[in-house]
Amino acid sequence: MTSDLKSLNRTEAILSAKEIISTHRAIVVLTGAGISAESGVPTFRGKDGYWKNYKAEELATPAAFESDPQLVWEWYDIRRRKLLNVKPNPAHYAIAELEKKSDDFTLITQNVDGLHLIAGSKTALEIHGNIWRVRCTYCGIKEENTQTHFEGLPRCTSCGGLLRPDIVWFGEALPEEVLTEVYNSLNRCDVLIIVGTSGIVQPAASFAYTAKNNGSKVIEVNIEETYLSDISDVKVLGKAGEVLPKIVGGMD
Ligand code: OAD
Repeated sequence: MTSDLKSLNRTEAILSAKEIISTHRAIVVLTGAGISAESGVPTFRGKDGYWKNYKAEELATPAAFESDPQLVWEWYDIRRRKLLNVKPNPAHYAIAELEKKSDDFTLITQNVDGLHLIAGSKTALEIHGNIWRVRCTYCGIKEENTQTHFEGLPRCTSCGGLLRPDIVWFGEALPEEVLTEVYNSLNRCDVLIIVGTSGIVQPAASFAYTAKNNGSKVIEVNIEETYLSDISDVKVLGKAGEVLPKIVGGMD
């Protein structure tokens, strides 16, 4: 069945995805930067993946922040400023719609842009944090912070310590309570829909394997083949904002 489904054209793949989703109960959706690409948020890899010749892996690290916090904040400030003018796209809305139609639904996102919640998703397990939250490197306090165009480095209002984005950087552990919820959902789901992720960054890259090993179907939506394509039962090649509304539409 798996290999037959993989060779489907896009229309057939959409129909197969629809069929799988409507005949299974527990749904998990995992999203990556690709879902926000049509909103105008740059992805991390591919042609958009560089800023001043740096890769995300060189800036989103505790070591980079320690050696040059100004540079790292400058990068995040640019990403924040881009987000100010950005709105969810039809893919985000389709996922919020699917949640409404499902009895058992979990959304896991690697994105820090907050667009799923703006689109109406009730909850999103934001495994990499949120760009609009900061954390004090000294006292650990976390707070929402929507400031842009920083003059100098942002400081904690309680203790004056240096603030950092409340984002999980390379080499850092994901929040344990979020991971527990993630694995609970992956252990009981019977459909995992993966949207717009290259499947390179762990642990998210292994979530499809966890679900698959537990007997779940895996549906992938991406504009190109990824490391996760081989284990996907259905691969829908196309832009998330075009494909997801078709998969979710008319499914009551
Ligand atoms: P990547 O930038 O690695 O991958 C984006 C994926 O989206 C690629 O597979 C693209 O083919 C696909 N894509 C692009 N446009 C699309 C569209 N319109 N519709 C569907 N797919 C599309 O992003 P992630 O896999 O999310 O971590 O990267 C994972 C993590 O690496 C990020 O969360 C970030 C980064 O370092 C942190 O910030 C901590």
